[in-house]
Amino acid sequence: MASVSDLSFEYETALVGGAAWDAHGCHLPQETIDACARCDSILFGSVGGPVEAQNEPKWKDAEKTSLLGLRKIFQLAVNVRPAKVYPLLADLSPLKPEIIDKGVDMVVIRELVSGIYFGDHQTAEDGESAADTMSYNKEEIRLPLEFGFKAAMKRDKRLTVVDKANVLDTSRLWRVVAEEMAPQYPEVALDFMYVDNACMQVICNPSAFDVVATENMFGDILSDCASVLPGSLGLMGTASLGPDKMMFEPAGGTAFDLTGKDAANPIAQILSAALMLRYAFDAEREARLIEDAVDAVLAEGLRTGDIASGGPTVGCSAMGSAIAAKVVEAA
Ligand code: IPM
Ligand code: MG
Repeated sequence: MASVSDLSFEYETALVGGAAWDAHGCHLPQETIDACARCDSILFGSVGGPVEAQNEPKWKDAEKTSLLGLRKIFQLAVNVRPAKVYPLLADLSPLKPEIIDKGVDMVVIRELVSGIYFGDHQTAEDGESAADTMSYNKEEIRLPLEFGFKAAMKRDKRLTVVDKANVLDTSRLWRVVAEEMAPQYPEVALDFMYVDNACMQVICNPSAFDVVATENMFGDILSDCASVLPGSLGLMGTASLGPDKMMFEPAGGTAFDLTGKDAANPIAQILSAALMLRYAFDAEREARLIEDAVDAVLAEGLRTGDIASGGPTVGCSAMGSAIAAKVVEAA
């Protein structure tokens, strides 16, 4: 980036998950929290162990402890998860061409530090019953909705609030807050959809969505539904935004079968860095340069294994170098 932009960065690296366990005996060490606090922004890798080792102490709850910890500590209340089908890679999508051809470019805004994830969790002593509490106040709802309205203004001006207002009081409160805010954004077409229907529509009619805003657990589920549309988890970056700290990370988790093979797709991580430039450093030009470079290498036919459709592939570092070269060429 140094040669193509005036921006310069100082980097600090910090451990999380299994690597932190090896070095410090916990998944989210204080050293890591301190490093994140010192820095202007957090670029996160992927966290989580091999599926067959989920119950070993090193891996048990590694993702939950690391991610929920950082979200809560830095109040990363607004989670932005794009799901876009690249026309060039449309054949990778599990959906039929007649559905994909209408265009898929949606973004799920998920509330990330309240709701059922952070309410009371209780299991009775006899183990015969358990309860998890979902609660929201209006302020907690306003933050993601405000981001949703503003994001819609910059996009296709459509905002769908996803809820379960036929059953839940919290969902009815989300609707009240959305209706209260809507007059400030007269150009945005606001609608509401029940979460069960929204999951169906994401699969049957994804082009119907522009910006979707929803509470924490519905957003977890709906963003995973949407994440399969591009055909690989290796393609999407995500952002989690707080009042004075932001974190950016690839949509997918770890892929232990690829360890040491130089075969992982780096695009989601690279696009996460582009999102970081846009949101944390207000560097729109640089963010665009990176996004356009990704489009350009895909247009030239470069493919990692996950997006190859049986054709020739390149490794992780070759893909990364090709994208970096395009950035320099375009600047
Ligand atoms: C995600 C993950 C986390 C979540 C897990 C690992 C706790 O699924 O970021 O979507 O549920 O939020
Ligand atoms: Mg999830």
